[in-house]
Formats: sequence, structure tokens, C-alpha cells
Amino acid sequence: MTHNRSVRDNCLPSTHSVHAGETRVKSLHALIDPIFQTSTYTFDNMAEVVAYQTAHNKGHVEDCFEYGRYGNPTIAAAEARIAALEHAETAILVASGMAALAYTFLQYLPSGSHIVMTDDSYRRTRQFCEDHLKKFNVDCTVVPLGDFDALEAAIRPETRILFSETPSNPYLRVLDVERFAEIGRRRGLITVLDSTFSTPINLTPIDYGIDVVIHSATKYLGGHNDLLAGVIAGSHEVVDYIRGYIGVLGGISDPNTAYLLLRGLKTLSLRVQQQNQTAQKVAEFLAAHPNVEQVWYPGLKTHPGHEIASKQMTGYGGVLSFTVKGGRQESFQFIDALKIPFISASLGGTETLVLHVAAQAYSDLNPEQCLKEGIPQNLVRLALGIEDAEDLIADLDQALRAVQS
Ligand SMILES: Cc1ncc(COP(=O)(O)O)c(C=O)c1O
Repeated sequence: MTHNRSVRDNCLPSTHSVHAGETRVKSLHALIDPIFQTSTYTFDNMAEVVAYQTAHNKGHVEDCFEYGRYGNPTIAAAEARIAALEHAETAILVASGMAALAYTFLQYLPSGSHIVMTDDSYRRTRQFCEDHLKKFNVDCTVVPLGDFDALEAAIRPETRILFSETPSNPYLRVLDVERFAEIGRRRGLITVLDSTFSTPINLTPIDYGIDVVIHSATKYLGGHNDLLAGVIAGSHEVVDYIRGYIGVLGGISDPNTAYLLLRGLKTLSLRVQQQNQTAQKVAEFLAAHPNVEQVWYPGLKTHPGHEIASKQMTGYGGVLSFTVKGGRQESFQFIDALKIPFISASLGGTETLVLHVAAQAYSDLNPEQCLKEGIPQNLVRLALGIEDAEDLIADLDQALRAVQS
């Protein structure tokens, strides 16, 4: 069956979210594509085998499959949908966001090379770059997000990758993506951006010149807190080199996850728009609350990243952080008093989640070590779901008022 994958290449995000990647010619006229739950594929005769292998040896074969580790139609549909949303030529779906990052770094960082990354990033990513890459004789320098002089100064002859996130975690710092991409181009480096917190609805980094866009699809792309997946998106030239490596390492996704992702993506634009609006309302409410010390959200004019976010993003995202007046005990009391948000480590789904940053993401560090990492004991991260803002605000208000010092 030939797959006419896209309605039109230049559609807007909501149209891509619904249509991109799925077949127009439907099997048995079912509206929804089946889940191709198969580990391998068959050929009718040896002439077909030879034709396939000849095409395969010349490069990537679209919509023709040999073995499950090298491709699957359900996975390919999810990849094509995400590529369309990211304005990328191609995308790879893998087992998790960490797998997407690890495969990209491992493939593009040979022994003896060097990566420059920005701080305030997902802690596991920093651990991977600072600790695990050492085993492969790869060095890492961390510079403050937004300090472009430090970024340029950190580049060495052996540097291969510039890596950043935007907005960052937990302080929602905003990277000037165009400037970052320009430095990478000028210095002959690959720029890799973890755009999980932005989503392709709020930011399309490839339009600003970024080479590789990474997502933890576990978050907004899946959107329902029911799957783990990761995405690597970019040009064929850059991304197909990683695809070949994953075929060897084997950490691919699976067709059921890809189906859930395709289904979740249909409402990506609606969910993200609602989450942007709710986060803005909640941030403004918290910023004015007597029991809150400080709020970090790029939609607030007081946030250092507000100006650049307003230029490059169409929405400020669904995550914010704030400090509860008092310390660890007061912030615990506040979290325990909440009725709607769940205490949980993820973000980007339909349910609002609350995270005590020190006690959950930095639980192995004592308070002094946490402070060195810039994490006070009263820092709380809130990842908005799609509940009504008014209900969430009423709940946050009663929980903040329940705090007794
Ligand atoms: C910004 C960011 N990147 C990557 C990851 C890792 O993604 P996964 O949990 O899907 O491996 C996370 C997870 O929280 C994240 O927040």
C-alpha cells in the first residue's frame, strides 16, 4: 500500500496534529489506522527481496519494512507526524527522552571530543554528559544558559555539539535559539535543543537554524501521562546517521506506544493552548499571593526570559516554579494540602502535577548541596494540566492559606 502521508506539507499545527503521518488510502476504509503489531515483514518472492535490498543499500527506504528493529508502519506514522509539526525533514521515535538524548550524543561525540551544554537542564541529561560520557573519553563543559560569551569561550577544537534546553528546568530560563544556532553554524558544530518544555506548538527551533530537536514525548506530545517515548528530529543528513546507529543498539519504540502517541498528538494544539493560558493565570495569581516568595514563568514581565520568549514563542508553556514563604516544612504543608494536583515527577499531561524540587529531583543531596545547585528547600514546580484555571487557583489558594509557620 502506498502511503500518502500528509494532507499538505505546509498545513498549520492543528491540521498536522490530526492528519500528518497517517495514510489517506485506508485499509478496509477504517478511519483509524490499525496498530501494526508485528516483529518482522514478509516478501512475496526473491525478486522483491533483491529490489528491497538494492533500494535499502542506496539509502533510506520509505514505507517498506524488513524487520521490526529497523522500522514499523505505526511508528513511521508517528515519526512523520512529529516531523511535520517540527518543520523537520525526518524524525525518529525511540524508547524515552533519555534514549533520544543518549543516542544523539553517543553517535555525534567520538572518543576525545567535547560537548558544551547549558545549566538548569534536566538533571539526568547533565549527569549523562558530565559523568557517563567520561567512560567514552568525552569531556563536557556546562555554561550558564543565556551567557553567550561563556558559551563561545568554552568551545575547543575538539568540540562537536552545543546542547541546550528551552525553557529550562526548573527556572524556565529561555534560550535565544537563533543566536545559539548561529554560533553553532559559525563554529562548525551540531546544535541540539531539548524542546520538551516548548512543544512544537509554542516553538519550532528548526526554523531558527537548530540542527537536532529532542523531545521527551512522554510529556506534551503524548500528553496523557500514559506512555514513555523520545524524539530526535532534523534533516535527513543529520538524523539518518543516528537512525542507523539505533538499528544497531536496538532501543526503539513499539507500535502500541506509537499508536497512543498518534492519538495523543491529535489534541496537542488544544491542550498546549489551554495549558499556556492556565499557566499564565496561575503565575499571575501566585505572583500576587502573600504566601509566595517568587514565581518563575516566562509569561510574567518580571521573568528574565520574557522578552526573548515573546519574540520566538507563540505561548509561554505550561510549567512554572515558585518558592513558598518559609522553608521545607511550609512547602511540604502546602503540597500536602493540595486537592487537585498529584504529587508526581512528570509534566505535560492532562493532569496537573506538583513537584517538590529538592525532595524529589535532588533527593540524594543535602540542603547545602542543593543550594549549591541553586535549589532551595521551598522550591515547588507546577506542571499545569487541562483542568479549569479557576478550580486550580481556588485549590492553590486554600493550600497556601493552610500553611502555618
Ligand atoms: C526536559 C526533559 N528532557 C528529557 C527528559 C527525559 O525524558 P524521559 O523521561 O522520556 O526519558 C525529561 C524528563 O523529565 C525532561 O524533563
